[in-house]
Amino acid sequence: FSHFLMDKFNRKHTYLRISLTERCNLRCHYCMPEDGVSLSPKERLLSTEEIVKVARIFVHQGVNKIRLTGGEPLIRPDLPDIIAELSKLKQVDASGNANTLKTIGITTNAIVLAKKLPALKEAGLDSINVSLDTLNPLRFELITRRKGWDRVMRGIEQALEMGFFPVKINCVVMNGMNEDEICDFVKLTEKLAVDVRFIEYMPFDGNKWNKDKLVSYKNMLKTINGNFSNILKLTDSENDTSKAFKVSGFNGQFGFITSMSDHFCGTCNRLRITADGNLKVCLFGNSEVSLRDEIRSGKSDDELLEVIGSAVQRKKQKHAGMLNIAKTKNRPMILIVDRRLTV
Ligand code: GTP
Ligand code: 5AD
Ligand code: SF4
Repeated sequence: FSHFLMDKFNRKHTYLRISLTERCNLRCHYCMPEDGVSLSPKERLLSTEEIVKVARIFVHQGVNKIRLTGGEPLIRPDLPDIIAELSKLKQVDASGNANTLKTIGITTNAIVLAKKLPALKEAGLDSINVSLDTLNPLRFELITRRKGWDRVMRGIEQALEMGFFPVKINCVVMNGMNEDEICDFVKLTEKLAVDVRFIEYMPFDGNKWNKDKLVSYKNMLKTINGNFSNILKLTDSENDTSKAFKVSGFNGQFGFITSMSDHFCGTCNRLRITADGNLKVCLFGNSEVSLRDEIRSGKSDDELLEVIGSAVQRKKQKHAGMLNIAKTKNRPMILIVDRRLTV
């Protein structure tokens, strides 16, 4: 495995998350500051060619999974082209490098998913994670400050009908907001073959996190255990962010992403590129390096690899703990990887 992508703690980074845009068609409270964020001008974002160039470098070093995120990645008009270009990395190319990409995934709010799915499938998209925090259309408006719950559900159903596997639902659980819906989400897995993942609420700049709004994994599981019998623990793969369970006989499954109460940094295999082209080696780290500037100053792939390798060497063993994270400057989530602001 490439030493450039191996850190001081012997973690092999095989999973690259690339943010395609800082914009979003929703405005979730937990993702963006109330006053919004100032968006980078378009020319400071990576172009399609730059994204593909960066992806190729990482894949040649051993990255086998790429997830496209945002903001909201579906609002980037060249998304099918990006996926089609990345799909070419699934085959050995003319350079003869034997490392290939295995999976291209997307994390989306699914507002415009249904109509875009055929083009995305055609381009080579493998899997879809949908952010959905409520099964109540009115509450959806409260959380996201926009309408569109029914469109999200249609997107999920259509992804299942078109054979996408897996289709995961990411549900950020917040005390006083949606913690009363945990069992409804588990019930959803009776008929739908989805993987609902309950995410512990995390602090990001401007999202008004406090520990009283956090519902821990243990408490969520206690609630589920009190309402369902025959809950099975499923086997987790080494690099999974989630601990997986299933109600026996249900078509789907559920899990917990316990970043706060039980972090999984020891098996972290993730690196991320922000939409403005910074390599960010940890979700909660604020040491970033601009690959965009290196590329635009004409650096060769080998020179870029040196920059990438030394950033990976700076990666910390684990995040600083939730109370410290809450006090440390980072980015708002919208500007890291994950989603949501105004178009
Ligand atoms: P899969 O590729 O399907 O395993 O998805 P994923 O969980 O890696 O990515 P997704 O975009 O669906 O993110 C779901 C949640 O996982 C996010 O809310 C984050 O909270 C959390 N997450 C993703 N990557 C990281 C990470 O590198 N560190 C931590 N601490 N949490 C992460
Ligand atoms: N805490 C936990 N998860 C979050 N996400 C966005 N902001 C937060 C937060 N503050 C989730 C989104 C998306 C995933 C990539 O990150 O719901 O599904
Ligand atoms: Fe990896 Fe940092 Fe997330 Fe821990 S907090 S799992 S080190 S990205």
